Amino acid sequence: MDAELLLAHALAVPRARLLTLDEVPADAAGRFAGLLDQRASRVPLQHLTGIAPFRHLELAVGPGVFVPRPETEQIAGWVLERIAGLTAPTVVDLGTGSGAIALSVAHEHPGARVLAVERDTAAIEWTRLNAGTRAAAGDTPVEVLAGDMTDPALLTELDGAVDLVVSNPPYVPDGARVPREVADHDPPLALWGGPDGLDVVRGLLRTAARLLTAGGALGIEHADQQGEALPALVRGVGGWEDVADHLDLAGRPRFTTARRAG
Ligand SMILES: C[S@@+](CC[C@H](N)C(=O)[O-])C[C@H]1O[C@@H](n2cnc3c(N)ncnc32)[C@H](O)[C@@H]1O
Repeated sequence: MDAELLLAHALAVPRARLLTLDEVPADAAGRFAGLLDQRASRVPLQHLTGIAPFRHLELAVGPGVFVPRPETEQIAGWVLERIAGLTAPTVVDLGTGSGAIALSVAHEHPGARVLAVERDTAAIEWTRLNAGTRAAAGDTPVEVLAGDMTDPALLTELDGAVDLVVSNPPYVPDGARVPREVADHDPPLALWGGPDGLDVVRGLLRTAARLLTAGGALGIEHADQQGEALPALVRGVGGWEDVADHLDLAGRPRFTTARRAG
């Protein structure tokens, strides 16, 4: 699959066109060989093509930003289901990276006001690039903010006024083994979440509690091993109802949701 996608990239054609091609010109063959070498040395496919597909969008990615994962499409889908009945909901995506969740929500629910928060100065350049591309394509513009999702002063003007907070935060426990593509190419700030992986989540829970309207919804993606720990943490801090965990398409625990008590 990766080889096909890299060959299509070297030829600047869609992958399906490979079936009908009789030959590869020498210059494209040279580009393809170079791309294969880089992929063999574990550079992520998406850094080589410069693109990561996410739901209905193609996002620009590269060094400095977390590559959005297919499993995150599911929490974005959950957001869209939760706000489907609201004409003009306010949605905040904390730790937006490429903007994958925020931009998908704006694309698929044009009435939503979407704010995307990112702390990493390199990553936010990619957020802004993608947000600009989507706005130019006609999507409702997403408001991109440099900020720390654990900061008590973040977005205080929206305290009690947000309908939904979503986050795919850094949640990998410090010291956990991750593939080389991840360790060498995803930004450290996107990955590591302290000894149990939940350090940033603890601060994020305080921010979400402050921002959400009574009855507002919270969704947090987590690691496979946190399907019990994260719901327990949310129940433990109090002020949340309907705490539930959700599996991804591979049947692994993937995200926790809750509703702000009224
Ligand atoms: C796992 S990545 C997810 C990115 C994107 N939401 C996605 O799903 O592809 C986590 C993101 O949170 C950002 N981040 C980490 N700590 C943060 C903090 N305290 N405040 C805001 N953003 C933070 C990272 O820089 C990174 O972009």
